[in-house]
Amino acid sequence: MTDSTKFTDPETVRQKVRAGYGEIAQQGSERRGGGKSCCGAPATQTEKLAKTVGYSAEELATLPEGANMGLSCGNPNALASLQPGEVVLDLGSGAGFDVFIAGKKVGVTGRAIGVDMTAEMLAKARKNIESYRKQTGLDNAEFRLGEIEHLPLADNSVDVVISNCVINLSPDKPQVWREIARVLKPGGRVAVSDLALLKPLPQRVVEMVEALVGCIAGAVLVSETERMAQEAGLWDIVLNPKSGYVDAMLDWQDPLYQKIIEKLPAGAKPGEYITSLEVTASKPGTLKSENNPKGIQVFDPPMCCSTGICGPNVDPVHVRFAADLSWLQEQGVNVERYNLSQSPAAFVENALVKQALTDKGEAALPLVLSNGEIQASGRYPKRNELAEWADVTQTGNGTFSPAVGELVAIGVAIAANCEPCLKHHYNEARKLGVSKSDMARAVEMGAKVKDSPHQAILRLADKLTGAALSDSNPEPDACCGANAEGHKSASKCCG
Ligand SMILES: C[S@@+](CC[C@H](N)C(=O)[O-])C[C@H]1O[C@@H](n2cnc3c(N)ncnc32)[C@H](O)[C@@H]1O
Repeated sequence: MTDSTKFTDPETVRQKVRAGYGEIAQQGSERRGGGKSCCGAPATQTEKLAKTVGYSAEELATLPEGANMGLSCGNPNALASLQPGEVVLDLGSGAGFDVFIAGKKVGVTGRAIGVDMTAEMLAKARKNIESYRKQTGLDNAEFRLGEIEHLPLADNSVDVVISNCVINLSPDKPQVWREIARVLKPGGRVAVSDLALLKPLPQRVVEMVEALVGCIAGAVLVSETERMAQEAGLWDIVLNPKSGYVDAMLDWQDPLYQKIIEKLPAGAKPGEYITSLEVTASKPGTLKSENNPKGIQVFDPPMCCSTGICGPNVDPVHVRFAADLSWLQEQGVNVERYNLSQSPAAFVENALVKQALTDKGEAALPLVLSNGEIQASGRYPKRNELAEWADVTQTGNGTFSPAVGELVAIGVAIAANCEPCLKHHYNEARKLGVSKSDMARAVEMGAKVKDSPHQAILRLADKLTGAALSDSNPEPDACCGANAEGHKSASKCCG
C-alpha cells in the first residue's frame, strides 16, 4: 500500500483508529502520568483542557476516576441543553466522560447510552458505571459495543445525540449522519463537538497515522459537515467554529501539534487549517406544543435574532411583544418562538403555518397560534389577546394596578374601623404616588359602605316611628345607600 492510498481504504482507517484507541485505553493511567498525546490534551492537562472547553469544576469533580481521558475537543453536553427524562446517545463514548455527565442531567427517568467500537474503551467505561452508580444513586448509564456507522439502536428511539471528537475519525461520515437521523425521534436534536478543517491540509499531514488517531487527518471542511447533515435530512443546522481548543494545544506544546507544524509550509500555523467545531441540528418532527394546545407559538418573519431586539433600528413593537411573551411565560404558559431565518424547519413542519405561507407568503408573518388555530396573522397581538388565547387571567395590565389595590385597602380599612390598616395603606399609597384626593375618595367610599346598613336601619326606624334620624339626602353610589327596600339587588350587601 502506497502512502497516498493507505488512508483511503475504510477498513484500514477503522483498524488504525481502533488500534490507536485500544492502546490509549490500556495505557490510560500511565498516559495521564506523562505519556504520549493523542486526540486531546497532553497527558498532564486533561482537567485543564476540559475546563477550557467549558466543563465546570463540579462536573469534573464528580466523574468516575479515569472517565475524562483528555480526549475531547468541545462540550456537547453544554450545547445539548439536556432535560430530565430524555434519552441521550453519545457516539464514540470512550471511557464514558460525556455519558456520565449527561446521565446526571437526564436523571432517574432518563437514559444515557454510549456507543464505542473499541473493546478496551468499552471495558473502561463499563468499569466506571459502578462508581457512577454509587456516587449518584442513578442506574441510567449503559455502554454498547458498536460502530457509529451502524448504531446498535432502534429507529426513532433517542431524544438527543451527542458526540465529542469522534466523527472526524469515521471513514464513512455521511453514513454516520444518516444513522444519527435514523435513531433520533422526530423533533429530536443533535449536538456535536468535533475537529474540522478551514482549508485542506497538506498531503504530508493527511498521511500521518498519529494525525489520523489525533482527530486531525480525518477531519473534513466545515462546509462538508453542513452538507452531510443536510443530506441526512436534518434541519436547523448551526455550525460554530471555535479556536480555543487548537490554541490550547499550541500553548501547551502538544507533541502532535509540534510535529504538524514541521509538516506545514514555512510560517503556516495549525489554526489556519484546523478548528474545533460545534454543530447543532434537529430532526423534523412533531413540535412540542401540538400536544400543548394552551401554549402559544409565534412564527416570526426573518429577524436578526430571536426577539427582533437587535441591530441599530429596534421596532418598539418587538420590545412590547417580547415583554408580553415573558409575562405569559411567568404565568406558566409554554411559549415557543420561531424565526424564519433561524428555524425554517419549524415553519414547514406545522401544516397551518405552511398553508398560510403558501397562501400569503411572508405577509402572513408574524403568525400566532394557540389551541391548534391561527389566532393572529401579519401583526403582533396585544397582551390581553395573548392572555385570552392562553386562558390566563390578566391582572398586570388591567385596571387593578398596585395603586388601585392600595385605594381599595384604604376603603376597606375605613369600613373595618382598622386604624393600623389605614396607616399602613396610606403610607404604601404615598410611596406609589397616589394623590391625597384619590385617597380621600377611597375613604369616602369606605365610609359610605360602612354607613349604608346603619342608614338603612335608620330609614326603616324613621318610617316605623316617624322619627327623622336618617340622612335625608342619601348618596346612591354605595351598595345600599339609597333605599334598602327598593334596592333589591343591593339588599344582601346591607345584611
Ligand atoms: C477521541 S476519542 C473521544 C472519546 C470521548 N468522546 C471523550 O470525549 O472522552 C474517540 C473515541 O471514539 C471511538 N471511535 C472512533 N471511531 C469510531 C467508530 N467509527 N465507531 C465507534 N467508535 C469510534 C474510539 O474508540 C474512541 O473511544
